[in-house]
Amino acid sequence: EKLLQRPATIIGTPKQARNDHIRPPRALYQPQRINSRGIELGDRAALQALLGDIGAARRPLSTMAATTAEQAVAAIAAGRKGFAVWSTTPAEVRAAALERAGDLLEQRRTTFIALLQDEGGKTLDDCISEVREAIDYCRYYAAEGRRLFGDGVALPGPTGESNTLRLRGRGVVVAISPWNFPLAIFLGQVTAALMAGNAVVAKPAEQTPVIAELAVTLLHEAGVPPEALQLVQGDGAIGAALVAHPDIAGVVFTGSTEVARAINRALAAKDGPIVPLIAETGGINAMIVDATALPEQVADDVVASAFRSAGQRCSALRLLFVQDDVADRTIELITGSARELRLGDPRDPATHIGPVIDAEAKAKLDAHIAHMRRDARLHYAGDAPTTGTYVAPHIFELRSAAELTEEVFGPILHVVRYNASELDAVVGAIAASRYALTLGVQSRIDETVARIVDRLPVGNVYVNRNIIGAVIGVQPFGGSGLSGTGPKAGGPHYLPRFALEQTLSINT
Ligand code: SER
Repeated sequence: EKLLQRPATIIGTPKQARNDHIRPPRALYQPQRINSRGIELGDRAALQALLGDIGAARRPLSTMAATTAEQAVAAIAAGRKGFAVWSTTPAEVRAAALERAGDLLEQRRTTFIALLQDEGGKTLDDCISEVREAIDYCRYYAAEGRRLFGDGVALPGPTGESNTLRLRGRGVVVAISPWNFPLAIFLGQVTAALMAGNAVVAKPAEQTPVIAELAVTLLHEAGVPPEALQLVQGDGAIGAALVAHPDIAGVVFTGSTEVARAINRALAAKDGPIVPLIAETGGINAMIVDATALPEQVADDVVASAFRSAGQRCSALRLLFVQDDVADRTIELITGSARELRLGDPRDPATHIGPVIDAEAKAKLDAHIAHMRRDARLHYAGDAPTTGTYVAPHIFELRSAAELTEEVFGPILHVVRYNASELDAVVGAIAASRYALTLGVQSRIDETVARIVDRLPVGNVYVNRNIIGAVIGVQPFGGSGLSGTGPKAGGPHYLPRFALEQTLSINT
């Protein structure tokens, strides 16, 4: 019940979210590509039977066929027809469809929670938060859309004409989304682009195709025309085919910096119109803890930020700077707190940390851990189940922040001590990473907080709290530099980034 007492959308109870079948380790039922089984995806009984099957037979969640490049091209062509209809549909009608989608999500929350657990390997509280976030996206962008896409803004002036500035859709937008928030980020991208009057061709991560399939079914049911929202399934090659298409009007992407760069290059290499990219990538997110911070709070916040969701959040904490006077005590408390975490089957409500997404992710993280064991000081290594794709939390101490050169997307925390006189160097090291997504500061001295925060153009700064779980409409989310192109999802300036501005001057 406590999980549900946030001011955002209320959904379900943990009890409702339980499944009653035995689940095999996640690695045994990796979904393959989409969607040949013809299940009624919105139907709880059918889904439950499918999930029951999995428990009994230990076979893939669903067998799915990847979209071919020809089908992807056809989707863009169909999307242009969808755009003609959807972009001229009144904003009020588009907003109402998104609101209906939010209501349907709320009604079907148990289905989505079960699926997020099964396909995404996410823990119960993460699933509840994610469904809540997805509902919030639908409702928030509907409300913002009504505000921004109605009659336009009248601009009275000395010219004697009637002047109006209005926003309208751009065309067919390609939305490429990640596996770590397979419902919330998928729907966040899609609903923003739709609300702005675009048609969307969405390509979800190949690790989480079924969730996307259900989400699209739900949006169609809520009133979005099929040609205005199409789903293609497959890996990066399908994404690349969409991005290369001459008739797209924009790309919204969440994922790695490397892929964002590749998309940027592909867009720049095309002839024809200049196509904008909205990218949200990762970060070597840092937290600075000075000697005035409250130690127990630091321990809680660090453990939540670094290890919750198995560290598979773009907002997660990777690099902790601790003032040397309090470093031993702080590391001891963090380690003590990390020891309490339970790894295991994400369907067990007692589980704090589920598996990482797949064997490839595990292999990469294991390699990083092996490297750190050689080069850094190990403070803590947790226990992980030996079957399945589990990675235990680890805490390593580095001599310098420069030893961590890339984002490590899992439950691995790196600690660096600093001397009070070195605070500016710490700020410099964070700036030098050129990532700028999330930052934590734990200090009771306002001047110290201001000194750090004012010098770092980080997208989301959290003071004396954890650095994950931005709330839609309250903590708009997104970063710059290597962390993205800047627009803040769930914020008041996001929808215009998906739109064209048109000035209408009428000589009356
Ligand atoms: N929006 C998510 C968070 O704030 C992104 O990872 O944690």
